[in-house]
Amino acid sequence: MIASPIPVPGLSPGEVIEVWQADLGRISPSEPVLRGLLSEEEVRQADRFRFAADRRRFVLRRAFRRQLLGARLGLPPRDLRFSAGPAGKPALADNSAGLHFNGSASGDIALLAVTGLGEVGCDVQLHSPLDPGLAQVIERFSPVEQAALARLEPGLRATAFFDCWTRKEAFVKALGCGLSLPLHEFTVSLEPGVPAALLHWDHDPDPSPRWTLTALPMGPGYSAALAVHRPCEAVLRHWVWPD
Ligand SMILES: CC(C)(COP(=O)(O)OP(=O)(O)OC[C@H]1O[C@@H](n2cnc3c(N)ncnc32)[C@H](O)[C@@H]1OP(=O)(O)O)[C@@H](O)C(=O)NCCC(=O)NCCS
Repeated sequence: MIASPIPVPGLSPGEVIEVWQADLGRISPSEPVLRGLLSEEEVRQADRFRFAADRRRFVLRRAFRRQLLGARLGLPPRDLRFSAGPAGKPALADNSAGLHFNGSASGDIALLAVTGLGEVGCDVQLHSPLDPGLAQVIERFSPVEQAALARLEPGLRATAFFDCWTRKEAFVKALGCGLSLPLHEFTVSLEPGVPAALLHWDHDPDPSPRWTLTALPMGPGYSAALAVHRPCEAVLRHWVWPD
């Protein structure tokens, strides 16, 4: 297992959030073995996928979540029960342990942030060209973000867009409201080389002392971010699929 600490300046030592990164593309235990970790409802959901690749991806994501949370709680993965918040944010149905988590997947990467510190959101995106569909997304960003993107050289814009997008998604996922929160109501940093930060929110004009927004280094072609409603430090760990 490889751990790469991502320090957030000025924080109390010991307040650490683990973000686990699983490779969905590499060889892992067989699908039937992983299906055995899922609930009956999840197996039914898996079987509703039309394409085998989509089904396998769903099974891997669910098995990853169950194995990791089961290991943290000392429970068999299959015994975990989940509930969903008003906008669909999954949580443990019995959360007497006070464990919070949030997951995301794109391309060959799945992430799961796990912590006892409080609500958390994470997001990963495989980059793609900035097509007209994504240009429409930019129109939903805050005016400050739109101006910052427009100032960049065209060659830097796609990466900055995905950095911005993952930071915004991580924030709305931490809040649990998903994309029902208007994306122009808050501003994140996006310029190349500038640390990730929540710069402004209409409900909290100076949110950065209360929020941790961290870019997670995923390697070329991906952007990823973590958001937590308190100061803390993130540690990225690579998930090794158990045999
Ligand atoms: C959550 C959301 C931002 C996901 O974005 P995405 O980039 O397509 O997908 P990701 O892989 O990054 O994340 C999906 C995961 O986020 C989690 N998730 C779902 N809803 C969530 C929410 N409201 N808040 C936080 N996390 C959520 C789930 O674990 C989901 O994975 P799963 O479907 O395998 O369980 C988007 O689907 C969304 O906004 N959903 C909420 C819908 C909504 O706002 N409804 C309005 C009703 S009030």
